[in-house]
Amino acid sequence: MGIAANLPLFIIAEKFIMSEKGIKVVAFNGSARKGGNTAILLKYVLKELETEGIETELVELSGAAIHGCLGCRECSKKKDRLCSQRNDMGNELIEKMDKADGILLGSPTYFADITPEIKALIDRAGYVSMANGGMLRRKVGAAVVAVRRAGAIHAFDTLNHFFLISEMMIPGSSYWNIGVGREPGDVERDEEGIRTMKTLGRNMAWLLKKVQG
Ligand SMILES: Cc1cc2nc3c(=O)[nH]c(=O)nc-3n(C[C@H](O)[C@H](O)[C@H](O)COP(=O)(O)O)c2cc1C
Repeated sequence: MGIAANLPLFIIAEKFIMSEKGIKVVAFNGSARKGGNTAILLKYVLKELETEGIETELVELSGAAIHGCLGCRECSKKKDRLCSQRNDMGNELIEKMDKADGILLGSPTYFADITPEIKALIDRAGYVSMANGGMLRRKVGAAVVAVRRAGAIHAFDTLNHFFLISEMMIPGSSYWNIGVGREPGDVERDEEGIRTMKTLGRNMAWLLKKVQG
């Protein structure tokens, strides 16, 4: 039975648009609120990427159960580009990262940090990447954070630490990639936040095309 058979139905892959050059970006929304502020921000980035002819996919974790890293180091022994845990969607998500040229990680700010779901994903994917000689090396990565008031920079840093230790390339924007809002949809009123996402999308597309030659 394939890994896809274990995928919960509430993992939503919303967009899949073919590109001319075959460059792909996968975005993971770590929020439990599907279609909430983090999703809205990510969609602004994805729209710019699509305008540049890049294939995109949005995966909303939607509070799905994803276990943290067990520290078993089985990935270092097997070196099969997968995590030893086969009872959740972890490997499905890691495979999506492996196949993509660019990775967007989005999270709402939870107590001045990221959500446990996206943390579990980066711990497992990061270890699998290292165990396989730098599986994510030179992919392009960017973080997006939604916040009501404070703590977003810390969450942003957490996500960027994953990209940096994975030897990934990070594009910048006109501000740190943060959108302000509390209830779903509030970020639409954060004009600077939306502008930051659009600029990020354009810069990510530019960098992807350079990296891909
Ligand atoms: C458990 C929890 C913890 C939160 N912690 C913070 C926080 O530390 N700082 C903050 O400004 N907002 C905090 N918030 C608010 C969310 O970051 C904010 O509502 C965000 O827009 C939610 O994004 P989403 O719609 O994508 O889930 C918290 C929300 C929850 C549910």
